[in-house]
Amino acid sequence: MPKDKPMLREAETVEAHKRIEASYKTRLGACYNCSIEDFLATSRAKRLAGKVNLIFTSPPFPLASPKAYGNFEGAEYLEWIVSVVQGLIPLLTPDGSIVMEIGNAWDRGSPTMSTLPLKTLIAISDRTSLNLCQQFVWENSARLPGPATWVNKRRIRIKDSHTHLWWFSPTKFPKADNRKVLSPYSTAMKRLIKTGKYNHGSRPSEHVISDKYFATDNSGAIPGSTLIMGNTAMDANYAKWCRDRDLIRHPARMPLRLADFFIRFLTDEGDLVMDPFGGSNTTGSAADQLRRKWITIEKDSNYVDGSQGRFAKS
Ligand SMILES: C[S@@+](CC[C@H](N)C(=O)[O-])C[C@H]1O[C@@H](n2cnc3c(N)ncnc32)[C@H](O)[C@@H]1O
Repeated sequence: MPKDKPMLREAETVEAHKRIEASYKTRLGACYNCSIEDFLATSRAKRLAGKVNLIFTSPPFPLASPKAYGNFEGAEYLEWIVSVVQGLIPLLTPDGSIVMEIGNAWDRGSPTMSTLPLKTLIAISDRTSLNLCQQFVWENSARLPGPATWVNKRRIRIKDSHTHLWWFSPTKFPKADNRKVLSPYSTAMKRLIKTGKYNHGSRPSEHVISDKYFATDNSGAIPGSTLIMGNTAMDANYAKWCRDRDLIRHPARMPLRLADFFIRFLTDEGDLVMDPFGGSNTTGSAADQLRRKWITIEKDSNYVDGSQGRFAKS
């Protein structure tokens, strides 16, 4: 099959969805309640061609036991996600990016890990025109131990506490600036910058530390590709909004800081950020706060209704 030719399932190329209304809007963004497959068939999606700077998303994971919102499994998952990605690529600006967060999957009834996430990564790399720019790990420091049978009961595995984020782009040089995501300097580094005193010479890694760069104050440290963030944020407005309306809170929300990091790193103010699997609209909320335009798609109306609470005035 030619690269980037979306292979949408027949039932989802719905003619009736040619036009679509947003479920809610802010000054900068709009949230749509439909599947991404249906959205891609709308005139709204056609008008987005070449305009989206960043697609930041956490698609349904290839789970061994599907969650409430229904995930594909096995080879079917792989075909489905590749076809969705192929459908999204035309929306990107030439220097745009797609960042996808994908969790680990475990084989059903077995203390072994599924290789499906790895196969998915390779399939996207091989079967689309996207370049893999960098792989990140999100270490969820607050993750509860699991899978329960192997970690909590039998105690024969360590808790599965990280997910991967794959950063892809149609170009090898997408818009990106690590100066926008610097971490605060450690106390030791602050001292070093102040005094200029450090251990010159080569390191065990054979890197030679030169005077020229090492003691320079660059306003912060370049972060590593393992992002350590607990998923413990209260999302107070969101929680209250859902409680007051008897809406189910999304079970797989990501931390706002995770979306914030990639939006800062890969876009500028006024750019357009999209999340095709929006859930509680963490992406739209982070984009709005960073003064980026945003567009979110979520197929479950309960989650769409709940996500509006992220924009409610407290
Ligand atoms: C992992 S969750 C995203 C959570 C989100 N990042 C957040 O922080 O709340 C994936 C979401 O994709 C939605 N979804 C699944 N299939 C979809 C489809 N075909 N089109 C649009 N949304 C879909 C699910 O309902 C679910 O809310």
